[in-house]
Amino acid sequence: MNHFISFEGIDGCGKSTQLQLTAQWLRQKGHQVLTTRQPGGTDLGKEIRHLLLDERFSPIPETELLLFLADRTEHVKRVIQPALQRGEWVLCDRYTDSTFAYQLAARPLAEQDLLPLLHFAQLGYEPSQTMWLDLDVEQAMLRTQQREEQQNRLDKEKQSFHAAVLKGFQQRAQSHPQRMQRIDANGDSQTVQQRIRDLLI
Ligand code: TYD
Repeated sequence: MNHFISFEGIDGCGKSTQLQLTAQWLRQKGHQVLTTRQPGGTDLGKEIRHLLLDERFSPIPETELLLFLADRTEHVKRVIQPALQRGEWVLCDRYTDSTFAYQLAARPLAEQDLLPLLHFAQLGYEPSQTMWLDLDVEQAMLRTQQREEQQNRLDKEKQSFHAAVLKGFQQRAQSHPQRMQRIDANGDSQTVQQRIRDLLI
């Protein structure tokens, strides 16, 4: 069985920290673990990430969607597939659920027509488990504002946008109840980490 785990949630939910803590724990248990992210998990993907998050550009929703999908196909083929074939655990910071939440739920795109495209971009690779870190929008926005690194184009979207993204994750979790685990992302990082470990044991 593949151990392909994605971490999802709105900006500021704490998923990147939780992904790293989970990787440390799995390595201590003797597993080979690859940590990676979307967008930006390949050399080409890093360039795509710059294009997507740079405030100089404001792509139309269709272009934005296609850039995220281009990043994903490249990443699946060159990074995720080989690691899974080597028998490693793959922990990926964001995957298709993010595209559903950000591009289909929060932007004015016709969802039904585009779902096959999201499916295509995964090249047949669906996470075996998804940790969705659920945090309310006010808390999450507060956390991103307190970060030292500069906020990117999507971090700076309005509260109503982040609320629509959160709704997108809720919908997605309802339609994929086996794969998507809802993690309460309130509390300190060790408390949240324990919730994740309890689900992985
Ligand atoms: P992320 O790396 O989580 O941001 P950071 O580490 O800077 O907080 O993700 C970058 C942004 O890309 C984030 O706002 C979510 C967005 N995104 C989409 O809109 N669609 C997608 O398919 C993916 C993978 C990310």
